[in-house]
Amino acid sequence: MMFLKNQWYAVAWDSDIGGKPVGRTICGEKIVFYRKRDRSLVALEDCCPHRLFPLSQGFVHEDRLVCGYHGLTFADSGQCVHMPSQDTINPNAHIRAYPVIERYRFIWVWIGDAALADPALLPALPWCADPAWAFDGGTYQTACDYRLVIDNLMDLTHETYVHSTSIGQKELTEAPFEAKLVGDRARVSRWTLNVEPPPFWVHNWKSKERVDRWQICDYSVPGIITIDVGVARAGTGAPQGDRSQGISATVVNLITPETETSCWYHWGFARNFETDDQGLTMRIRDAQGGVFMEDIEVFVHQQQNILARPDRKMMSLNIDAGGVLARRLLDRALVQAADKAA
Ligand code: FES
Ligand SMILES: [Fe+2]
Repeated sequence: MMFLKNQWYAVAWDSDIGGKPVGRTICGEKIVFYRKRDRSLVALEDCCPHRLFPLSQGFVHEDRLVCGYHGLTFADSGQCVHMPSQDTINPNAHIRAYPVIERYRFIWVWIGDAALADPALLPALPWCADPAWAFDGGTYQTACDYRLVIDNLMDLTHETYVHSTSIGQKELTEAPFEAKLVGDRARVSRWTLNVEPPPFWVHNWKSKERVDRWQICDYSVPGIITIDVGVARAGTGAPQGDRSQGISATVVNLITPETETSCWYHWGFARNFETDDQGLTMRIRDAQGGVFMEDIEVFVHQQQNILARPDRKMMSLNIDAGGVLARRLLDRALVQAADKAA
């Protein structure tokens, strides 16, 4: 598998990176991140050119990264600015600097040609930063190919089996769904009409009345999936666009390859109801973290089987239509990138 280059990849939540160096592998590239005193971000190759010690094991002094082995010191450009016991600096002592930005509560690094890094290429994630929404979540370092997470989120049939005590319900497996391309996105929409709300929504909607429930998943390359979810009193016109009799939220999923068989899964939940209730934000985050941990167990088992059976191909059924579209977009982008490089 190749990783899709010339893309922004989510590295971490904004609060995860401070003045201490943090090493992360993104698309197979070892990168060290830190903030300078003015809070601006630095991303450098995580390898000292002297004896190849990881710079993430070192420290930051006056906004410069100091190697923890013999003290070579690097500016944010990647240029070495200090070598111990010598006055002249070897001009080859230069490491790669990566474009890095902070948007929508996350830190993003550009993997590919730095000259092409344009923040405008990042898909809009308004729910993560708009004060009209309360947003929080977490990150799981996950031992699987990141595409298994994409498959999972583009087919929520699994909720019935994997998340039976929270958001799953048997009607999900019976409800019709639609998978289609919308511009440069793959979308799966599922409406489950006139059903009892599952436990998560009973809790947050504070009613057991029957509901029309929706789940609309949007995928964009390389690994961004937002899911518009909610419930409204059954028969009050939600499928036609009137959500005034219900509540909704957006589940934000940013899946970043670490290696071919591992990924960083950043997840969060944005809601526009009871946004001032910080306790509710924490409780939802904990609940969502528990739900997604159920998925992680599935991914890890899948990945182990995939590695043990390299000759076996996965089957695609009707329920996989959304995941198939998403993978098609990703494969198309990979082919286009390879053509450009040729
Ligand atoms: S390995 Fe970094 S200074 Fe020697
Ligand atoms: Fe799940």
